[in-house]
Amino acid sequence: MNYRHAFHAGSFGDCVKHALLVWLLRALMRKATPLFVLDTHAGVGRYDLEHGPAARTGEWRQGIARLLDDTPAPLADYVGLVRSLGLYPGSPALIRALLRPADRLACCELHPDDAATLRRNFARDPQVGVHHRDAWEALGALLPPKERRGLILIDPPFENPQEFTQLLDGLAAGHARFPTGVFVAWYPIKHRAAVRDFHAQLRQSGMRDIVCVELCLREPLDPTRLNGCGVVVINPPFRFEQEVPPILQALLDRLAAREPGEGIALRRLADE
Ligand SMILES: C[S@@+](CC[C@H](N)C(=O)[O-])C[C@H]1O[C@@H](n2cnc3c(N)ncnc32)[C@H](O)[C@@H]1O
Repeated sequence: MNYRHAFHAGSFGDCVKHALLVWLLRALMRKATPLFVLDTHAGVGRYDLEHGPAARTGEWRQGIARLLDDTPAPLADYVGLVRSLGLYPGSPALIRALLRPADRLACCELHPDDAATLRRNFARDPQVGVHHRDAWEALGALLPPKERRGLILIDPPFENPQEFTQLLDGLAAGHARFPTGVFVAWYPIKHRAAVRDFHAQLRQSGMRDIVCVELCLREPLDPTRLNGCGVVVINPPFRFEQEVPPILQALLDRLAAREPGEGIALRRLADE
């Protein structure tokens, strides 16, 4: 395991994923009944952007740094949380900040050092369970939750090309155990072919009610670069298709550098 999220914290990919995550959680919390959240690839939870790995790559300067001043209205909720939480919040910290007293979060992290840091960050928090375990195995073991309402965030490192297949298998396995869960998976857009195959397989998977959203900084022609990213959502909450595009557009306006092929997209891959 070479990937360490600390090098990429606050990058444009994090901004897309985390802004959507905040919208999704708020949407699910419109109902008062308790919610379970599973973060299968959690990282360490919070990140110092000014020192260490994040400072070395500086990816956050093309990401969250561009959203902090004069924040556009559709991003105000996400950026407000980032400001209030101090260190840049990874997905576990953002989720934790939004939990109501009866909600629960389970976080899985396989890297031993990162799992230990994550555990320290949530020590003595009765609403957060930290598991040093494999994400794909956890999707079988931790679903369905007793609450019967849940959001499952799947955010693999994409260190190797098989990870699209692994992600498809993981979504299918999780969905088979918990068909009403809201599954949310991040994916990179390096070139179109891998993403086209991924979408085609989702369409043929038999799972219903699937949408994906994408933000591209440029035409994905050079596969050595992260040219964009997407998020696939199974069982999106009510008004997703109306309320999410303004968030993506605000992200694009701030994060893109006017390169050919930049843009956002929302595609329905399977009907309800
Ligand atoms: C993209 S990062 C997660 C970032 C985090 N979700 C966030 O938004 O702040 C992916 C994480 O998954 C961990 N990881 C890689 N393979 C894993 C596996 N099979 N099971 C659980 N964690 C894994 C990596 O160590 C890394 O910390």
